Amino acid sequence: MIRDKGCGDITESDIGSNMSLAGWVFRRRDHGGLIFIDLRDRSGICQIVFSPDVSKETHELAHDLRSEFVISVSGEVRKRPAGTENPNFPTGMVELYVKKLDVLNESAPLPFPMEEAAEASEYLRLKHRYLDLRRPELQRNLIVRHKVSKVMRDYLDEKGFLEIETPMLTKSTPEGARDYLVPSRLNPGHFYALPQSPQLFKQILMAAGLEKYFQIVKCFRDEDLRADRQPEFTQVDMEMSFVDRNDVISVVEEMIKRLFRNVMEIDITTPFERLSYKESMERFGNDKPDLRFGLELKDMADLAAKGSFKVFLDAVQSGGRVKAINGKGMAGLSRKEVDMLTEEAQSFGAKGLAWIKVKNGFESPIAKFFPEDVLRRMAERLEASDGDIMLFVADKEKVVHDVLSRMRLELGKRLNLIQPGFRFVWITDFPLFEWDDEEGRFQAMHHPFTAPMDGIPPVELDDIKSNAAAFESLASAKAKAYDIVLNGSEIGGGSIRIHNVIDQHKMFKILGITDEDARVKFGFLLDALEYGAPPHGGIALGLDRLVMLMVGAHSIRDVIAFPKTQKAVCLMSGAPSTVEQKQLRELNVKLDIPL
Ligand code: AMO
Ligand code: AMP
Repeated sequence: MIRDKGCGDITESDIGSNMSLAGWVFRRRDHGGLIFIDLRDRSGICQIVFSPDVSKETHELAHDLRSEFVISVSGEVRKRPAGTENPNFPTGMVELYVKKLDVLNESAPLPFPMEEAAEASEYLRLKHRYLDLRRPELQRNLIVRHKVSKVMRDYLDEKGFLEIETPMLTKSTPEGARDYLVPSRLNPGHFYALPQSPQLFKQILMAAGLEKYFQIVKCFRDEDLRADRQPEFTQVDMEMSFVDRNDVISVVEEMIKRLFRNVMEIDITTPFERLSYKESMERFGNDKPDLRFGLELKDMADLAAKGSFKVFLDAVQSGGRVKAINGKGMAGLSRKEVDMLTEEAQSFGAKGLAWIKVKNGFESPIAKFFPEDVLRRMAERLEASDGDIMLFVADKEKVVHDVLSRMRLELGKRLNLIQPGFRFVWITDFPLFEWDDEEGRFQAMHHPFTAPMDGIPPVELDDIKSNAAAFESLASAKAKAYDIVLNGSEIGGGSIRIHNVIDQHKMFKILGITDEDARVKFGFLLDALEYGAPPHGGIALGLDRLVMLMVGAHSIRDVIAFPKTQKAVCLMSGAPSTVEQKQLRELNVKLDIPL
């Protein structure tokens, strides 16, 4: 046995006994004759002491120990002398006096000091991920991630779910991102797609009578990356037969409750709040509201109409919106600071940001356009009092919501309004369709397999452009879809599916997917629906995002062992890379872009 215990597991009850420990040389200090080293392993840190009084030879050897050498030591655990204890450490009352030292491996000089690893450039940390991962924070994140998977797996097993693997070399699933493609050597000119999700396969498992499926599964999406997105990420993917929305929702709520209790020792109240998509958009300007603070958006169109400010009047007249939020306590901003706020709004897509300070009356370049009582009613609606600033955006609805939802988040942070804790909310009653201006047709808001709330609208594709009623019936159709949002992040989404093949065909028609196209892309699902598919529905949770929020990490990369950069590169392995001509030839791939 190289070691008896973990470095972090030594306690006062070990005082007086002989122990062997092993780990990495972390911090070292030479004090007079004594050499102190913080020895680190996964369990924590223990102070070890080299004294010439205990062993001259070992003390001599200890002079050559450098950062991140791997050593094993044995010696006596002693109580630290009075005044040198460190109550901040679990092992802070004890130290191990080393009699015997073995250097198990040396380390080359480090690319960054381990003590300040968190401050090293992310480039260096990702390139030397094996060093970065030695940081206790990252180890803790991976431990939490492991526990989260385990609790979910156990929970779903208890509830009768079967973990079933679905193929990685497969056909495209329409989740809205670009596919990662893999050329097939045995079928020249043919490509597999890596799954954007197991959506089609899990529905087929329901058609196959498996009734309750789950999988903790890698998904691949070639999309532009952000702080909470990775090209490959993990879903906790589920599907159930003979269920409605509330069944899926309560399985997830119970699972999350268990998760927070078992992993974090936090009690989460269920059921979670629910907001319709429409209410969420109206109050928060987006469909993933952060409910940890207020600063809600208020509709100002009716009051704007009582004034003569052209920007507002024009917006309302052309079918747009005028909405506002209250910059609580920000009336003291200087002109320059207000200009900066305006620039920020513009960077989010606004044409401008109108403002009215409440400051012994109303102070604003646009105050003159409104009667005093209208200004007062504006303030009332925004619950603005002396010292606040009302911020208005007038534009198309999408722009108003986009800009104000982002301003709201920005101000929430800046004004320190965000309460600690975990605020879950379900967003329900999503629109079934989303109008795509560029393509001139409706797209599925979730995916084309999502069941409508009230049947498939009886609309022909050709009707949409000429017939306002037909357009409206699609624009207002709702889906049996739901998203789960935690602290302003979408951590999961799902729906009840269409299980009737005739309805599925109607859906494709509305979306402008021809029968031929549908056959080529999803023929196997359509076939499965023909043979007695049960009603079914499900959801997928984004495991990386959920863990990121649980541990309070700022980036999704901090909860993934080997993440990719914003350019989808793995700096450690160097993927993606060029390949040999021979490999390309075998795959029948010819590059027309010079390498
Ligand atoms: P959806 O596309 O909403 O649904 O994905 C489910 C959840 O996965 C997470 N997620 C991501 N996490 C990290 N990086 C990404 N690039 C990324 N993309 C998505 C999000 C998201 O809520 N098949 C459907 C589920 C269903 O209908 O059952 C699906 O994939 O947290
Ligand atoms: P202007 O009349 O263009 O000088 O604008 C007067 C004020 O209205 C400025 O503070 C602008 O930032 C603001 N403003 C301009 N366009 C908009 C808009 N679409 N929504 C809100 N405020 C705007």
